[in-house]
Amino acid sequence: MTKREQRAPAAERNRSVILDVLREVLPATGTVLEVSSGTGQHAAYFAPELAPRRWQPSEFDRALIGSIEEWGARVPSAKLLPPITLDACAAIWPVEQAPPEPPITAVVNINMIHIAPWQACLGLLAGAGRILPPQGMLYLYGPYQRGGAHNASSNEDFDRSLRARDPQWGVRDLDEVEAAAKLEGLVLERVIEMPVNNLSVIFRKPA
Ligand SMILES: C[S@@+](CC[C@H](N)C(=O)[O-])C[C@H]1O[C@@H](n2cnc3c(N)ncnc32)[C@H](O)[C@@H]1O
Repeated sequence: MTKREQRAPAAERNRSVILDVLREVLPATGTVLEVSSGTGQHAAYFAPELAPRRWQPSEFDRALIGSIEEWGARVPSAKLLPPITLDACAAIWPVEQAPPEPPITAVVNINMIHIAPWQACLGLLAGAGRILPPQGMLYLYGPYQRGGAHNASSNEDFDRSLRARDPQWGVRDLDEVEAAAKLEGLVLERVIEMPVNNLSVIFRKPA
């Protein structure tokens, strides 16, 4: 392991089940923009598996860009683009000023919206609404409440621990995320139950 490379045990645990879903739901072509790539482990694992799509990793925390580059250097894949800095809350995302080729057809965001202020979720939905073409897809993965209730006591404990770390964090309610997404022109298409009480949530921009 090099100095810049970081490791997230959760990303190692969930990557293969997420890949199975991405294979099924992602548009067949285009560039996939990953918002909040974290260490870069997901990007390095997914990019070669999801060819011919290209994978554009991005991170808000500049300290993680080196780690994403290190993980990417292990993957001999022309499909993995160099990471960019991207704050989901930004009014204009860098990909709007310098769009990748081929054009973005999907946005993927794993385990961010509960470990960031609600504004980050709103920014993510607004950005996805702006950049996705008709039929474009937004994929979210993480724990959720539904109808104001947790789906497992472990998620309730997790929610409490998140809010203790930062009162602006917390397990989001899917109904609230769906309502906010609708305002950005994104329609909830599918919810897939995942291991350890997480969900894959798929939004689509109508044709
Ligand atoms: C728990 S980590 C998940 C990282 C990665 N997706 C994974 O599953 O390993 C949460 C990530 O959200 C990012 N994040 C927090 N606020 C953000 C924002 N406003 N825009 C983009 N990313 C943000 C953090 O920098 C961090 O990398």
